[in-house]
Amino acid sequence: MLKIGLLGAGRIGNVHARAISSHPGSTLVAISDVNMDAARKLAEQYGAEARSTDDIINDPSIDAVLVATSTDTHSDLIEAATAAGKAVLCEKPVDLSLERARACQKAAAKNGRPVMIGFNRRFDPNFAALKAAVDRGEIGKTELLSVTSFDPAPPPVSYVKVSGGLFRDMMIHDFDMACWLMGGFPETVTAVGSSIVDPDIGAAGDVDTAVVTLHFADGRIAVIKNSRRAVYGYDQRVELLGSEGLLSAGNVLENTVSKATKDGVASAKPEFFFLERYMRAYSAEWHAFVTAVNAGSPLPVTLDDGVNALAVAEAATRSAKSGQSVKLASI
Ligand SMILES: NC(=O)c1ccc[n+]([C@@H]2O[C@H](COP(=O)([O-])OP(=O)(O)OC[C@H]3O[C@@H](n4cnc5c(N)ncnc54)[C@H](O)[C@@H]3O)[C@@H](O)[C@H]2O)c1
Repeated sequence: MLKIGLLGAGRIGNVHARAISSHPGSTLVAISDVNMDAARKLAEQYGAEARSTDDIINDPSIDAVLVATSTDTHSDLIEAATAAGKAVLCEKPVDLSLERARACQKAAAKNGRPVMIGFNRRFDPNFAALKAAVDRGEIGKTELLSVTSFDPAPPPVSYVKVSGGLFRDMMIHDFDMACWLMGGFPETVTAVGSSIVDPDIGAAGDVDTAVVTLHFADGRIAVIKNSRRAVYGYDQRVELLGSEGLLSAGNVLENTVSKATKDGVASAKPEFFFLERYMRAYSAEWHAFVTAVNAGSPLPVTLDDGVNALAVAEAATRSAKSGQSVKLASI
């Protein structure tokens, strides 16, 4: 039974608390948050203790920590936790700064403890089935990937200001998906971005609508589209064309009822947002972490994957600003 400390009792911390507690192979021992009230409230809910972050990291009886704190704390906490001998599952992105993330990657490698990054979409049953079909060679050689990822509504501008921008905060999931599904790392990144949903997002220096093209050295291409607003719900689709066919994964709808009348055919909306759409993925992600740590086997998503996705995000940020394509080798 793995004893777990959860760092961060915010939005995603709440999701992880549930996954940790409901897993038969893990016990949620303690929760920290700089907002002690939030830590206490969540700890009470799950029969855990509210303690300080340092206290949890330095407790030798705790086997692993889940880092669900604000992004600017991730590298420091990964380093401290692995130095204290803990296995770590850390939320994306690894850091706001690629340089800092790379330093963390070196330090964690030296500490020799397993670190997984929370790219939960890999554990969504639909995307996981699509990837399994790719790996079985069912569409031959992958050639052209198209990823659509639209949020239902933009976040508050206060969030945008500390998020690191759309490419590091939101599209980072899609960069990881693209590298994972295409089985490689792109050579060149070309990005365009606009602020057409909320002018305050533009005034804060970010974009809310963006398209990125990833070009792989062997000629394969991935196109990623992000928007911070889709009035019909969370739109998460993937289409992958290969030499022997096409694989697509569509949205998960709120229900399966469809209505056909003389006016047309209508169905329910896509599930509202990540808390609805990816709840099964967060549980499967936690199960994969517990299984790998217990078995001492390789983690399905690594810190290297997190740093790679952040490098693509950095290149996309630069490309959108400069209007030029950016070579990953220059990042
Ligand atoms: N994988 C996903 O689907 C997903 C979804 C949402 C958020 N995230 C990521 O999770 C992280 C948290 O996002 P959120 O939406 O839950 O934010 P949030 O603001 O709701 O929660 C973050 C919490 O961390 C606490 N905190 C900050 N520094 C801390 C420290 N040193 N020790 C303990 N607690 C600390 C804050 O007080 C806050 O309660 C972000 O990095 C975000 O990118 C991932």
